Amino acid sequence: MLTAYDFPTAQILDEAGIPVLLVGDSVANNVLGYETTLPVTMDEMLHHARAVSRGARNALLVGDMPFLTYQTSTEEAIRNAGRYMKEGGMHAVKIEGPLFELAEALVVRGIPVMGHLGLTPQSVHAMGGYRVQARTEETAERLIADAMSLDKAGVFSLVLEGIPIEAARRVTESVGAPTIGIGAGPHCDGQVLVITDLLGLGQGKHPKFVKAYANLRDEIGRAARAFADEVESGAFPDDEHSYS
Ligand code: KIV
Repeated sequence: MLTAYDFPTAQILDEAGIPVLLVGDSVANNVLGYETTLPVTMDEMLHHARAVSRGARNALLVGDMPFLTYQTSTEEAIRNAGRYMKEGGMHAVKIEGPLFELAEALVVRGIPVMGHLGLTPQSVHAMGGYRVQARTEETAERLIADAMSLDKAGVFSLVLEGIPIEAARRVTESVGAPTIGIGAGPHCDGQVLVITDLLGLGQGKHPKFVKAYANLRDEIGRAARAFADEVESGAFPDDEHSYS
């Protein structure tokens, strides 16, 4: 799974055969310039979801429920999840945290749910920062119990973020739904990365689990400087790029 936030990226990832695209609320800090994922709204997410759904033909599309669009009441959660499917072209939604009853309420209404446990970024302030979770036996057992309850509630998949390798292995062995790891080691059934991290578009320090498979930040800077230099020197536009 990879995150996607716009039409051309969704098209490229879909053509590359990535089976699941997540319109992650990480759009907030990676694309919209917010400090955390907390400020992004349902309407902002729908704007990105629609663009992604226009670009992807084959991938399963998952819309990430933004902060306080599903934690407030079951009714509001159903309405917002429904908007993702009716207005955003999504096939499923993702919710953070051990919200078993809510997961079940969505599932029985025909809304496929992806769970998300471990380091859940919408709880950044409750966790005291972006910290690796489930480091002790007690917290690992809690995590396994939560994962089993979400599995029982009917989630079709479970993201495990920012937990030790061994905890992720134990959760993966304890649930029927496939686990998808990010900073959770190699024993998950699948892996996810944030697309801007994968492409090397980020700035400054990034978490240990991030692997950049390209360096588009430098590449974009290089292209922009080359354009500006050619405009200054008069080399662009030349005859090839002008109408006679
Ligand atoms: O919003 C997001 O990008 C996510 C992934 C890290 C799973 O939730």
